[in-house]
Amino acid sequence: MTPRHFLTLLDLSSAELSQLIARAIELKAMHRRGESYAPLCRRTMAMIFEKSSTRTRVSFEAGMSQLGGSSLFLSPRDTHLGRGEPIEDTARVMSRMVDVIVIRAYEHAMVERFAEQSSVPVINALTDRHHPCQLLADIQTYVEARGAISGRTAAWIGDGNNVCHSWINAARRFGFRLVIATPAGYEPDAGVVAAAGECVSLTQDPRAAVHGADIVVTDTWASMGQEDEKAQRLKDFSGYMVDQPLMRLARSDAVFMHCLPAYRGYEVDAAVIDGPQSVVWDEAENRMHAQKALLEFLLVKNAGDAGR
Ligand code: CP
Ligand code: NVA
Repeated sequence: MTPRHFLTLLDLSSAELSQLIARAIELKAMHRRGESYAPLCRRTMAMIFEKSSTRTRVSFEAGMSQLGGSSLFLSPRDTHLGRGEPIEDTARVMSRMVDVIVIRAYEHAMVERFAEQSSVPVINALTDRHHPCQLLADIQTYVEARGAISGRTAAWIGDGNNVCHSWINAARRFGFRLVIATPAGYEPDAGVVAAAGECVSLTQDPRAAVHGADIVVTDTWASMGQEDEKAQRLKDFSGYMVDQPLMRLARSDAVFMHCLPAYRGYEVDAAVIDGPQSVVWDEAENRMHAQKALLEFLLVKNAGDAGR
């Protein structure tokens, strides 16, 4: 049987995603109460990370441990992937031994090729195109802070990057409006935008984007792998910092979000990220709860029935 993978948010239906967010909130409450819930006892999660990570690695490993399973972390230099063994062969071999494989890769195509040959679920832990696990945590965070996200408006300010693409897919699946403000030449992929239809619109004016928004969200101006472009990008993104004057144009109860790591004084002013509207630390913590719900969804039959 072909396994379910989670390479983009579109791999799950709106109903499945909403159920997953509700379950993440429930698992968080169980964790806070100190309840033991270990449905993944004797299960193994392999993690292949081509790029650095703080939140994703720690949240997956801690979450898997809480669910009773174990993790093994591999960088390309630890495996033959870094020495030219084909991705497809690696996928066939690893998926005969472990129960789920989490991959952070430079190229989205690498994760797709791996998943094609994997007999167990593959989870995208960030590629150049998408970061779907981040959006599970972000939606959970909004729902906890302000209630349902459907019908709300989010403003993305900055680079039309991987995280932005996942916000676009989230707008489709969760039914909210997303206004994206980028400098010319840094728009998100036209195909991803077009597929989202009317729920997404583009502008080059951060002030127009933020006007009346319920959520203001940004990310680094130079993602991992774009280090050589950093100097040019700092020039091109000037005027796109999320600061207090910009936040004042959003709704008074708007939240500020950032997937982290953040660069204060560049894409966000310290007064905003460290201020009262910021929910970034909840977003970071929720990575763990949301990914526990995802692991349960992918690996446990009748997920959610146990522990109730
Ligand atoms: N937000 C996020 O994915 O952070 P890491 O790169 O630290 O995993
Ligand atoms: N856009 C950033 C996100 C980091 C979590 C990057 O890809 O580096």
